[in-house]
Amino acid sequence: MRMLDGQTALVTGGSRGIGAALVRGLANAGADIVIADLPMQDNEAAAIKAEVEELGRTCRLVHMDVTDEANVKDAIAEAGRIDILVNNAGILKAMTLEHLDQKTWDAHFDVNARGVLFVTNAVLPQMRERKSGRVINIASLAARQGIATEGHYAATKAAVVTLTRVYAQEVGADGITVNAICPGIILTEMAKNKLVGEDRDRWTQATSLKRLGDPSDVAGAAIFFASPLSNYVSGQALNVCGGLYFH
Ligand SMILES: NC(=O)c1ccc[n+]([C@@H]2O[C@H](COP(=O)([O-])OP(=O)(O)OC[C@H]3O[C@@H](n4cnc5c(N)ncnc54)[C@H](O)[C@@H]3O)[C@@H](O)[C@H]2O)c1
Repeated sequence: MRMLDGQTALVTGGSRGIGAALVRGLANAGADIVIADLPMQDNEAAAIKAEVEELGRTCRLVHMDVTDEANVKDAIAEAGRIDILVNNAGILKAMTLEHLDQKTWDAHFDVNARGVLFVTNAVLPQMRERKSGRVINIASLAARQGIATEGHYAATKAAVVTLTRVYAQEVGADGITVNAICPGIILTEMAKNKLVGEDRDRWTQATSLKRLGDPSDVAGAAIFFASPLSNYVSGQALNVCGGLYFH
């Protein structure tokens, strides 16, 4: 018997990077999976689906753009029962605050913050009806300390941490927990694009563990928040950063 046997987890942006690692981890812990991602991710999503099925779990793909509320509602209706929701979809285009334009600001808030709101609100009615559910939001260490050239991104992730705390209070009476994970620097396409040469060495040395994160490093925290091990934990944000930040 595995910890998540009989549960279904939906992971937004689950076709690559941290999302794909969370899909693998949750499936290994026994969960059936729904990957919710943009149509342009179909090939990568199909590859992860095959991996999950290899483990003996079911895996379905639904197209979802988290910025489009009507599309989110349709995708959640198509997905059916969801016991565990992982709000992972996110974007980052580095830019200093002085050079930031409205389009970039809006795009980050639309995906990273408002997307969490749309998807969570679409899933909550069925969780409330069953009087149980787990919501796990992927925030960022950027929410904790802010990082130069990522001010707009950090602001969206600080919003995610705050939404996590408020949702926890608003839905807890119906047996639903809401928690956040704040990954440090995890080597995905998102991070590789911005981390080159000296910058990469500097960040590596800044971690206590003297290494940057692998997407699989984030999965343990998600399994914890999805499982009975965290029955009495809600509204919390856990840093998964190799000891890069301590608050
Ligand atoms: N990589 C890091 O170092 C790091 C650190 C902290 C937090 N994070 C967060 O982890 C999450 C995953 O990041 P990653 O590094 O794996 O990024 P990634 O770019 O590799 O993957 C992002 C995923 O989100 C999906 N996505 C983007 N816009 C979407 C939309 N509008 N609707 C639906 N899906 C959409 C993409 O298709 C992709 O599958 C993000 O929320 C990111 O902010 C990443």
